[in-house]
Amino acid sequence: MSMSAAPDHAPEDIEQCERSAQVGELTCHVEDAPPPDASVRQRDADLFRGFGLKPGDFADGLVVDVGAGPYLRTKYFRDAQIAVIEPLADEYRRQAPWSDLNDAAAVYSQPAEQSVAELLGQAACVLSLNAIDHAFEPWRILANMRSYLKPDGLMLVSVDVHDVDEDDLHPVALTPALLTELAVNAGLAIERRYLYTPHGRNYGHGFAYTIVARPRAAGEPDGSDSPLIPLRSTGQLAWEEISDRAGSVARRVKRVVTGESRTVKRWLGKAA
Ligand SMILES: C[S@@+](CC[C@H](N)C(=O)[O-])C[C@H]1O[C@@H](n2cnc3c(N)ncnc32)[C@H](O)[C@@H]1O
Repeated sequence: MSMSAAPDHAPEDIEQCERSAQVGELTCHVEDAPPPDASVRQRDADLFRGFGLKPGDFADGLVVDVGAGPYLRTKYFRDAQIAVIEPLADEYRRQAPWSDLNDAAAVYSQPAEQSVAELLGQAACVLSLNAIDHAFEPWRILANMRSYLKPDGLMLVSVDVHDVDEDDLHPVALTPALLTELAVNAGLAIERRYLYTPHGRNYGHGFAYTIVARPRAAGEPDGSDSPLIPLRSTGQLAWEEISDRAGSVARRVKRVVTGESRTVKRWLGKAA
């Protein structure tokens, strides 16, 4: 394990934060999320294609989706069997009638820090999208993900890189260097790396960083300096930044006009 990533949280703090994070995730993914329609599937296809993966890449093989959320995005992979490791899987299936997690061959409703013995050495692909920064011990998750791979299997980890969030939903601050180091420590050789997603700068915070890797053979280079491919152009990023700022100003103006602004309420309170 990397010393720079060593855990410094007490177990009871982890438990408390995991509980509030789980409530937040449920709100985000059950109450605010649309059922998986054609546009969701199209975005999934664009995302996987952006990372160089084709629908038939794992036909007849096992794909393990870590931190899958309520959608089975890995349905993109034609004729693959899918296993899901997702701590909220039971809740998603209970609270979101549209959740298609039941279409997976196996669902483990548990954190990915816990090893799943049945999956050891079984998977043609193990992937995780926008999930391991929601966990406290990403190094343990990466080591488990690596252990599910067949010797020629492929691992993909895509995550937002950002500071620790005050909302408790993102308890770990990953950097590209740290994620790369953790992947190398887990015994992987990195084949390629991506910045951003095909849809934007990030999944929600900071910027997205993705590694695609395979189990490293003895003496093989670790690939930590493999090409870093940007999935957005400078022009697209600049345009998105302007739109985001305009959206944020518009939201603030709306809060002032509708009387929801806390700052205006404070001013009015002081003036009264
Ligand atoms: C932002 S969602 C992303 C879901 C999905 N991968 C997607 O792209 O739509 C993050 C997911 O990670 C899950 N998660 C949080 N902590 C986890 C852990 N320790 N192990 C596995 N999954 C976890 C959450 O329950 C949540 O469903």
